[in-house]
Amino acid sequence: MPDSLIHSKTLRWFIKNLKLPLPLPPVLQRSNKPWEVELLAGYKVKTNGGISLAAMLQVAGATTIEGNELVDALVYELDGPQTVAKLDQLHAFFNKNLGKVKWNGRIVIIQRQHPHTAEAAAAHRAVDGIIRSVAKEVGRKGITANRIVHEGAWEDMQHRIEGPLRFLLSRYAAFIDGQTIWLDSQVRAPQHSPLAKPLKGKTALVTGAARGIGAAIAKSLAREGAKVIVVDRPQEADIARDLVSEIHGVLLLQDISSIEAPKALADFLTQNHYTLDILVHNAGITRDKTLAKMDTKYWEQVLNVNLQAIISLNETLLHKLNEGGRVIAMSSISGFAGNFGQANYAATKAGLIGYVAALAPELSSRGITVNALAPGFIETAMTAKMPFMTREGGRRLSNLQQGGLPEDIAEATLFLASPGAVGITGQTLRVCGGNMIGA
Ligand code: NAI
Repeated sequence: MPDSLIHSKTLRWFIKNLKLPLPLPPVLQRSNKPWEVELLAGYKVKTNGGISLAAMLQVAGATTIEGNELVDALVYELDGPQTVAKLDQLHAFFNKNLGKVKWNGRIVIIQRQHPHTAEAAAAHRAVDGIIRSVAKEVGRKGITANRIVHEGAWEDMQHRIEGPLRFLLSRYAAFIDGQTIWLDSQVRAPQHSPLAKPLKGKTALVTGAARGIGAAIAKSLAREGAKVIVVDRPQEADIARDLVSEIHGVLLLQDISSIEAPKALADFLTQNHYTLDILVHNAGITRDKTLAKMDTKYWEQVLNVNLQAIISLNETLLHKLNEGGRVIAMSSISGFAGNFGQANYAATKAGLIGYVAALAPELSSRGITVNALAPGFIETAMTAKMPFMTREGGRRLSNLQQGGLPEDIAEATLFLASPGAVGITGQTLRVCGGNMIGA
């Protein structure tokens, strides 16, 4: 059965109105407007939090409400808890308010962790189980549930909390579900985290940007003000040129796995007087075979492009990154879960999870964060080639009963590249719709 039929408005109407026992995936609301226009515009939020939380939301266009009306989001602020009994308050809040969240709404728990006892550690971790379960319960309505965890006092952490909070609440985070974002203070916060054109004046380099997820990333970064250097293989020259002219970017045709690539990229930056603020390692390939049948060629190609090239490029490019820089590498949920016939691919994607965690402390003194993204099932040319049942199975594993779009990965990349993501480094953020295989 073709996808067009599954997503046809007429078919959806029949399934709904004839009450056929077929689950319909919710139509997710997304946005590709500039943050300045859209971020939380018109949102009504119910929260147990204080005045500073309300102010934080208000700046992005939201209002907090007290009454019993329907809301776009619930935000629950939690200190600890130090005992299991204290979880009762959380239960009471959600028990009362969950039913009031609109379709495509958002739920975020902001949790301060400071466990002094084993019971406190248990109570803290319990919240992870709660958020993952809530995400599964509300996913059929397109509602997402995520958690932000920090270890400092609210006053010290609020300028690190506001970026992730606004992003998770927004329509740009439609495919992030059941996740925890850990915040710390190892990277110095910028003076200013503007909502209007947050990447204005910044230069970004995106590998594998001619098409698919990379092209979507290039467009999102450009939309928020970045000058984007589009890097892709020479054989992609035509589509790369079209993209470059659309986003007023710059083209660099280069196979990133070639031995000359690090020097070629560095020379290109120097000769054109670019300094670098954002480095997105997106290019990746698959060459699937079970390990017993995988020849050396398949093994080496994937390890070279997906992992070795990134490490080699970084050796040359990281010292060219400006203070406050951002490095983002494209991992995959295969890096957590492994995948049949993908020992080479999963090796590289798991390798990146370890790599960013190890690299983060080395870069933090320069105000630079380094993170990975782990997309789940994303609708691209690659996944369109799968047999229908495998493809539909991949979609249905998510809480939202569908695959993500390249734009979902692009918006998450943009968020990690923004000044407001300063509290996040060394992490891998899953953009998988709550498809928690391998978590
Ligand atoms: P795609 O195949 O549509 O695009 C990849 C781009 O990278 C192409 O433009 C290609 O020419 C470029 N590229 C490949 N090798 C290169 C090299 N040696 N030098 C320069 N450019 C090179 O792939 P897609 O789906 O957009 O994936 C992008 C990234 O996201 C990859 O790292 C992939 O592993 C990852 N990912 C994708 C998922 C999906 O469902 N599509 C899921 C999880 C991760």
